[in-house]
Amino acid sequence: MRRGSIVQLVAIGIVFGAAAAAVALLVPWLPDPASRQAGRIDFVFWFVTAICIAIFALVAAVIVYSLVKFRVRADDDSDGPPIHGHTGLEIVWTAIPAALVTAISIVSAVVLAKNEDIPHASAASEPLKPLVVDVKAQQFFWTFSYPAFKDIASPTLKVPVNTPVELRITSVDVNHSFWVPEWGQKLDAVPGSTNTLPVTPDKKGTFPVVCTELCGLGHALMRSTAEVTSSKDFLAWAKGQQKKIAAPAGSSSGKAVFDANGCNTCHTFTPAGANKKIGPDLDKLPAEAQRAGKPLEQFIRESIVNPNAYVEPGYPKNVMPPNFQQLLSKAQLDAVVKYLAAGSKQ
Ligand code: CUA
Repeated sequence: MRRGSIVQLVAIGIVFGAAAAAVALLVPWLPDPASRQAGRIDFVFWFVTAICIAIFALVAAVIVYSLVKFRVRADDDSDGPPIHGHTGLEIVWTAIPAALVTAISIVSAVVLAKNEDIPHASAASEPLKPLVVDVKAQQFFWTFSYPAFKDIASPTLKVPVNTPVELRITSVDVNHSFWVPEWGQKLDAVPGSTNTLPVTPDKKGTFPVVCTELCGLGHALMRSTAEVTSSKDFLAWAKGQQKKIAAPAGSSSGKAVFDANGCNTCHTFTPAGANKKIGPDLDKLPAEAQRAGKPLEQFIRESIVNPNAYVEPGYPKNVMPPNFQQLLSKAQLDAVVKYLAAGSKQ
């Protein structure tokens, strides 16, 4: 091959490689990683992308060069030279991809093993290492509770920065899937089993928690937030919540049950500041009870524990979770029934 041809090949390769690199680097394909695990996944992503760009540049250079250089001239009717393979070339184009694929699998295996590793407490005196959070998925909301802090529960995920967290994910109804895009990993929430996802958030901030498995009518709205704060702020929050649990239930406990069980993710109820329209409007409960032909409180109670007994016209059956009888204590059920009855009469 003449020197001029090699220079042309390399020049074409650089142009295509630069174009592919620009597309990879200038478009924000992935969110900025906000956990150690996501940082490692990003490394694998860029490692593979760099290899792909190099191969693309090589293939594009050879194709473009051949199309221009070896195209049929207008007056050329001759046959091409009879070529039968090229052993040296075949060895090269087998050996290089084999080496690259092996490198990718080694890097991926190392990252996978590191990401699935749950670091264990080095000293019992450190209450936050690792911090266990029980994640409960349910149509159509998340509940996060903290066994190390008397099982305080929160509709948002609060975790301290730079602390290993062990998310124990389960579901009480259908399959859901837990995903914080900035943390890089997804894990299914399956009824009857607990799946463990280790995550070490390394950036403070508020990130979306997304349900990423189609789980019913409210799937698209099944979102929460992950709030990553300093260890000090996290401990202050956790201790404050513990005190609230210890205090006797106040007059607001009906609202607490309403919020903690995600009623606000589907319904409108002005006293609770809820404005969703998946389920019937709870501001209009008295009129709905009348249509069902039942006294208000009895109607509300029945609609919570046996939601298909009467379904407001215009709304589908089987969307309201049927398991609140099991999820709520009698006191909680009484409180939320009273809260809804009182609030809807205003
Ligand atoms: Cu839960 Cu989609």
